[in-house]
Amino acid sequence: LSDVSADLSEVLFTEQQIADKLAELARRIEADYAGDRPLLVGVLKGAVMVMADLARELKIHLDMDWMAVSSYGAGTQSSGVVRILKDLDTDVQGRRVLIVEDIIDSGLTLSWLKANLATRGAASVEICALLRKPDAVKVDVDVRYLGFDIPNAFVVGYGLDYAETYRNLRGVGVLSPHVYQ
Ligand code: PRP
Ligand code: MN
Ligand code: MG
Repeated sequence: LSDVSADLSEVLFTEQQIADKLAELARRIEADYAGDRPLLVGVLKGAVMVMADLARELKIHLDMDWMAVSSYGAGTQSSGVVRILKDLDTDVQGRRVLIVEDIIDSGLTLSWLKANLATRGAASVEICALLRKPDAVKVDVDVRYLGFDIPNAFVVGYGLDYAETYRNLRGVGVLSPHVYQ
């Protein structure tokens, strides 16, 4: 049996630290959306774990929907042009939308998505992201609910992947260079 977590050089956040942070964010979200029924939009696939835990932490009525997007262009660099692979099933007209993401890297995905949902007539579009890499951000994104700022390292776990691997780690950690070198 090979242990997935053995490929980490460092644990940044444990399962418990993530849960505590999501509880903190959930209390703010509950207060901000009191009397409303927000539409939580998860961005596949990285946001699956954040969505599952945040939604269950929230004590208010809400809807959940999902989008899958992909940046145009080859290579590892995001181009900022985003293609919708799977669209929402929900009409966002007049809805208060809360986008749920695992991480803001360059910010290109979220700045595009936020603008896109706003043009569909959402009453409001806010962002909840567990992680942000301030040193990698190319476009400033207004994140209402942020978990943690992290260094510009290769992080995996809790939804975040390297070549589709490590999403199932319970915590978030830095991937050992030996894995991708
Ligand atoms: C990752 C991550 C964010 C996005 C952030 O998704 O989950 O959605 O990149 O990058 P950006 O801020 O530079 O736009 P990815 O495209 O790897 O797809 P995945 O969620 O399926 O892993
Ligand atoms: Mn993603
Ligand atoms: Mg990915």
